Amino acid sequence: MTATLDARLARSWVSRWDAQQEFYIADREDRFAVIGDVVDQALRRVDQVQRHVDQVQRREPPVDGATVLDLGCGPGSLSARLADRLPGPRIIGIDSDPVLLALGRARYGDHIEFVDADLTAPDLPAEIPDVVDAVVSTTALHWLDPEPLAALYRNLARRIRPGGVFVDGDHMPTGESDLRGLEQSVREARTVRVGVAANEDWSQWWAAAQAEPELADLISERSERAIQHHGSNALSPAEHATLLRAAGFTSVGTVWQYGDDTVLVAIR
Ligand SMILES: C[S@@+](CC[C@H](N)C(=O)[O-])C[C@H]1O[C@@H](n2cnc3c(N)ncnc32)[C@H](O)[C@@H]1O
Repeated sequence: MTATLDARLARSWVSRWDAQQEFYIADREDRFAVIGDVVDQALRRVDQVQRHVDQVQRREPPVDGATVLDLGCGPGSLSARLADRLPGPRIIGIDSDPVLLALGRARYGDHIEFVDADLTAPDLPAEIPDVVDAVVSTTALHWLDPEPLAALYRNLARRIRPGGVFVDGDHMPTGESDLRGLEQSVREARTVRVGVAANEDWSQWWAAAQAEPELADLISERSERAIQHHGSNALSPAEHATLLRAAGFTSVGTVWQYGDDTVLVAIR
């Protein structure tokens, strides 16, 4: 039985999480905004294709009834930004980390659904709708090895409605070994300019979470499930695009980039 956390405690741990993530992605809020731009347009397009409503001209927000999935949602940071700017769609975050899911439920559970599932499993769980309008992700899919990632992309291609979209913001290095150092120094210089170089990092955040008595049960559940970050698949945008096209997506391309920090879009 998963513990229910106090909303105020969750608020403070989630904002501490956001600061910790900005240590790695200085432009995280910009990245969230770009993903929101793409999803907004995609939902209008799906709306047009599926429901024959000319919302683009009328500039109305997308209608209720659309579904957006956030893969590897953590405590729901991206889902929450999308919910703020696109109040209509049902937003479902999927993750397998009990600590982050519990924080997300306590912080944003009144308007975002959180589902506990492993993205490397053969299929998404039954509570995920068969047809969705958009799928987003940030800083999560680099955890997956290429084979399960390709299987996930095939699954998404089957579920996303025609005209719908997959949008992934993540570290996607070029794959050119001579550029690796440059990508790293661009990222570090940006971190200093934005003023997040002294932020807490991943290990410090988790060490602090382990010392929080209110999170003790969840931390022990997490250690039993052995979810660990074992490095990055290091796939380039071009390699992601190849996997996405093979899965059935039509147009695939980068819409935003800073160093290796990339927002990749694939249209279904
Ligand atoms: C760096 S965090 C990013 C979380 C969130 N998207 C954000 O931007 O704050 C990566 C997330 O991916 C999740 N994740 C990694 N591999 C996963 C898998 N196989 N199944 C489900 N979630 C996974 C982790 O549990 C973690 O919450």
